[in-house]
Parts: sequence; C-alpha cells; structure tokens
Amino acid sequence: MEHVVHHPLPHDVPAEWAARAYVNEAKYLEMYERSIRDPEGFWYEHGSRIDWFTTYTRAKNASFGGPDGGEVSIRWFEDGVTNVAYNCIDRHLDTRGDQVAIIWEGDDPSESKHITYRQLHAEVCRFANVLRNRGVEKGSTVTIYMPMIPEAAYAMLACARLGAIHSVVFGGFSPDSLADRIRDCGSKMVITADEGLRGGRKVPLKANVDAAIAKVGGVDHVVVVRRTGGSVDMEAGRDVYYHEAAEQVTDECPAEHVDAEDPLFILYTSGSTGKPKGVLHTTGGYLVFASMTHQYVFDYHDGDIYWCTADVGWVTGHSYIVYGPLANGATTLMFEGVPNYPTVSRFWEVIDKHKVNIFYTAPTAIRSLMGAGDAPVKKTSRASLRLLGSVGEPINPEAWEWYYEVVGEKRCPIVDTWWQTETGGIMITPLPGATRLKPGSATRPFFGVVPQVVDAEGKVLEGACEGNLVIAESWPGQMRTVFGDHQRFVDTYFSAYKGKYFTGDGCRRDADGYYWITGRVDDVINVSGHRMGTAEVESALVSHPKVSEAAVVGYPHDIKGQGIYAYVTLMQGEEPSESLRKELVAHVRKEIGPIATPDLIQFAPGLPKTRSGKIMRRILRKIAEDEFSALGDTSTLADPAVVDDLIENRQNRA
Ligand code: PRX
Repeated sequence: MEHVVHHPLPHDVPAEWAARAYVNEAKYLEMYERSIRDPEGFWYEHGSRIDWFTTYTRAKNASFGGPDGGEVSIRWFEDGVTNVAYNCIDRHLDTRGDQVAIIWEGDDPSESKHITYRQLHAEVCRFANVLRNRGVEKGSTVTIYMPMIPEAAYAMLACARLGAIHSVVFGGFSPDSLADRIRDCGSKMVITADEGLRGGRKVPLKANVDAAIAKVGGVDHVVVVRRTGGSVDMEAGRDVYYHEAAEQVTDECPAEHVDAEDPLFILYTSGSTGKPKGVLHTTGGYLVFASMTHQYVFDYHDGDIYWCTADVGWVTGHSYIVYGPLANGATTLMFEGVPNYPTVSRFWEVIDKHKVNIFYTAPTAIRSLMGAGDAPVKKTSRASLRLLGSVGEPINPEAWEWYYEVVGEKRCPIVDTWWQTETGGIMITPLPGATRLKPGSATRPFFGVVPQVVDAEGKVLEGACEGNLVIAESWPGQMRTVFGDHQRFVDTYFSAYKGKYFTGDGCRRDADGYYWITGRVDDVINVSGHRMGTAEVESALVSHPKVSEAAVVGYPHDIKGQGIYAYVTLMQGEEPSESLRKELVAHVRKEIGPIATPDLIQFAPGLPKTRSGKIMRRILRKIAEDEFSALGDTSTLADPAVVDDLIENRQNRA
C-alpha cells in the first residue's frame, strides 16, 4: 500500500519557497518537542498571537478525567477576556484597513466582490446592530441558515461581536433537520436568505425556514438577506429583510468583552448514535488554535490569496474560511458555486481570475474533477498556485498524485490535513517546507497534539502499528462539551479509553512515525466528505409508513469515498418495487436533506440478527462491499438463511 517518499521536501521545492516557509524540519521538531514537554509555556506564549482586553495568567487547565474516569473539564486561557470579531476585524484596521479581507466569487462567473477590512468592519457592525435591536445579546443562540454569500460571514462575526452563540446549519439540510437544530439550542433568531444559488439552481432557504418554524415554534425573529430577489412569504412582526433593517442602524457597534471560555459557536455533527450533537466551541483557545494552524499549515504570508472551497455550514468553513484567516489578516476567498458549473474548469478559472496562491479542497472534489480528465485543468494557467490542501476524508494516493502532478504541476506541496468538527482545527498535517510528503498520509501532529494508537483494550501501541486513534492531551481548539449535555460529551469521547479523547477513527502509524487515517471505526460514514450517522438515515427510513426495519452501512464509492447502502425490510403486505425505492429515496432527502440520499437500497425480507436481536452490521458491511465470500463467523445468527437472500439480491456487484 505505502508509496515511497518520492517528493521529499523541502528539497523538491523552489528555493524561494523553502526560504519563505515558517518552519523547516529541525524547527518543527524543536517546536513540537517543546509544545509537548511544556504545554503551559508553549501555549502561554502563543496565546498572545491574538489580542486580549485582559491578558490571561494561565494557559492550560484541562483534564480528560484520568484512567479512573474523573471529571472532564477543558479550559484554556480562562481568565483572559477578548472578542473574536475584534480580533478578526478591528485590530487590523490601522495596518490593513484597505486590504481585501473577503473576495466573494458568485455562482455565476460574472459576479464577484471585494470587501476590505474597513468595509467588513462597517458591515459586521451594522449586522450586529440589526441583531441587537431584535434582542440578541451575550449568550443568546442564533441559527444561521445561509448560502455562501458574504452576509453569512457578517452574520457569524456579528454574533461573535455581541458575544452571542451562532449555530450555522448547512443550507443543504431539510426543514426537519433545521427544525431539530433550532429546537436543540433554543434559537429565537434565525438568519437566512430568500433563496440560495448553487450550480444555477435555486435553493428555497426562506421557505425551508418557514417550514422548520412551523414545526418548532419559539422563533421570534427571522432576518432575511435578499440574494436572488425571489418572492418569499414574509410574516409581519416576525420577518424582516436585512437591507431594510440595516437602513435603520449605524455602522458602529462596540465589541463585547467576552471571557475566553464563553461559547463562540455550536455546530451540529453526526455521531454513531441518536440525534446530531451540538459541538460547542469557546472563544480564546479556539481562535488561537484556528489562527495558528491557518498560518503554519498553509504557510500563510501577508499578501497571499487563500481559498478554502468548503461551505460555512461545516467546521472547515468556520475555522478556515472565516475565523482562522481573518484573525491572521488574510485575504480569504468565499465561493458560492460548485466545482462543475458552468464547466468542470471552474475551480481553476477562479484560481486564475483571483490569482489564488493557496487552495484547500476535499478529496471527493479532486476525484470527480480527475474523472473529467486533464484537459479542463491544463487549459488554465494556475501559475499563482503555491500550496494545495486536502481535508475531510482519506485521500487515495491516485487522487493525491493527480492533484500534485496535474493541478500543482509538481510545484506545490500538498497538505493532507486530518481533523474533526470536535477538534476545532487541524491536528495531523504536513507543514510545507518541514515535512516530507507521502501520498495518502496526513503525516505528523501539529504543535501540542499528542496522538496515540491504541488497541481494542486501550493498550498504547508503539512504533509501526495499526489501531484506533486517540489524543492523549488537551489542545486549545478542542470542543468543550455537547451543548446542553455534558454527560453525552464524556460518554462519547472519554469513555472508550478512559483519560483519552477518542476520535472514532482508525489509524496506522508507519516506521517514520507518519499517521495514515484509515476511516471511521464507529457507525459514522463519510459521504463526499460529509459526515453522517447511519442511525440517522435508518430512523429517516423507518419513519416511512411502509418500512418496518432498516439498516444502513457505508460501501466504497469511487467519487464519494463512501456511498450509502440501505437494507430495508418492508411492512407485512408491502411489495418491493422500483417506485417504492424512489419513494424511499425522496423520503430520506425530505427528512434529512440531499446529502443523505441513499445510493443503493436493497429490499430484504429479513436482517441478520444475533439471537438477542442485535443486527450484525459486520455482515451487512461485507455484503455491501461485495466481499461476501469472507463473511466470517455466522454461527451466532438467529436465522443464517437470511444471509443467502442478502447475497443473492445484493445491489453492489463488481
Ligand atoms: O474520519 C475523519 C475524516 O472526517 C472525520 C471528521 O469529519 P467532520 O467532523 O465532518 O470534519 C471534517 C473536516 C475537518 C474524521 O473523523 N477526515 C477528516 N479529514 C481527514 C479525514 N480522514 C482522513 N484524512 C483526512 N485528512
């Protein structure tokens, strides 16, 4: 499997590149060693990379509960007082007020905008005043359901400015999913747009908000940004167009003083059981970690144009479109569209149009563009590119090679960054100029990160090994709790291996100490870099009146990484049919959203269960992978005959 080290860095890069990198290998090792030996000293020092209204006197105060399962409590820079929006905007005004903060590229290639730091300040202040006039204050929760337009970033920063807690919900989620998320955090305010625009198609955001509110209630205000001008229902007294409300307020709004451990945002993410959980990130440690990783991993220097293609509805958008880059005074590009509209050259054309130097995207996008061949890439220049990044799922070496050779023309190192919604920022990654790259490996830990590989019993493995990935020590960007449910936080992350943070990922470490993430070891699947709990898809399926039981597993998919494979048992008297299959697909899309669309549905008269009634997912995974010859021990099955039927009617045939 393992590829040879054939692109050693920094030897393989132009001299000017090696010269400009923040760290070389020796410096990385020195800084890393210090960060582990003396985390307090290391982070005390680096905490000053952001501005504080009151300086902290201590950096780290964190416990993972220890081997006996004590209290889990994570606090960083706890007596410091600051404000995230102040750090992302105000502190840059003297030195870079006229520098572009955000380049916005619309879905339609003829539309783009440049927003300077001074303009960003005015926009965010205005937005904050609109929110404040409608009751938003320190500690309020605000749900943001927006397309990729600058107002999404303004809304996030406006919340941060007021000390309010935002919960951004990806615009691809259904009204039902949105309703659950509004309910869970008790938002009285929702910020949305009339419609989104992606790949030339309209997304009915405001109508979805209306449908969600009809289910949850409790929402007093909906602020609607006009994007397409499409006609939407406006409920008097509750709904207001942003542009009308903004006329009533000034563009000055002081930044609240907030404690380092005051919440900054909630972001819902899927786990192996139950409903999505509200991952809570706080202020000081998060911003220190997001900005520091952004600077070092992307080797960001003044004047660079940086583009992360994620959506602000995911953590990558939070940390690496908005907070990390803006805290660093960067120019960050925000893209409304999709990689294949109007053509499959779009990414590369945007790079040329805005002279992008640093480009950060997901393996699923790389694989699908690779499928379109080299010509759509090669017809563009890409001369501005200096660094490429990958995130969200393991990148297969073939896609890595294509990205390296065709997109980057062997000039640009690739940073394959492993991290999670929970980690707040990048955890395992190459540092350009310091790390020799191996295609498919996220390589080595960032400063302060202590990865360990453990076996099923929790024994820490040494040297080259394979097992489950845990993190042994706290880092500043770590999530602090599950919103409203600290016990769930403890149970989910600190109970499998007491005293350690369990990532849910499997991992191999090679003889050079490089980490190779092998994918989730729990019932979470990763579809096109979108994280999904199989249990969520199952509960959507069984909510259909004709479905009696459902089991969902992932299977290898060429473009998406993993596809969604659903086994469905129908209610007595219901007959499988093509039209029912379509109905079930539509039902899941309605319940969760298009990202949860099942790729394959197999109607199964029965599911393989143990005598105690537990579904044997191992068998379902094997069949979905078309690897049914190695099913392993099936002797504990209540009815071994169901397996023959499952194999006979399997949907994924090589
Ligand atoms: O399985 C890992 C995979 O994505 C999961 C986290 O998903 P999410 O919280 O949605 O955050 C995605 C963006 C940070 C991880 O548990 N993952 C993420 N990056 C990588 C990865 N797997 C392999 N290599 C990566 N670079």
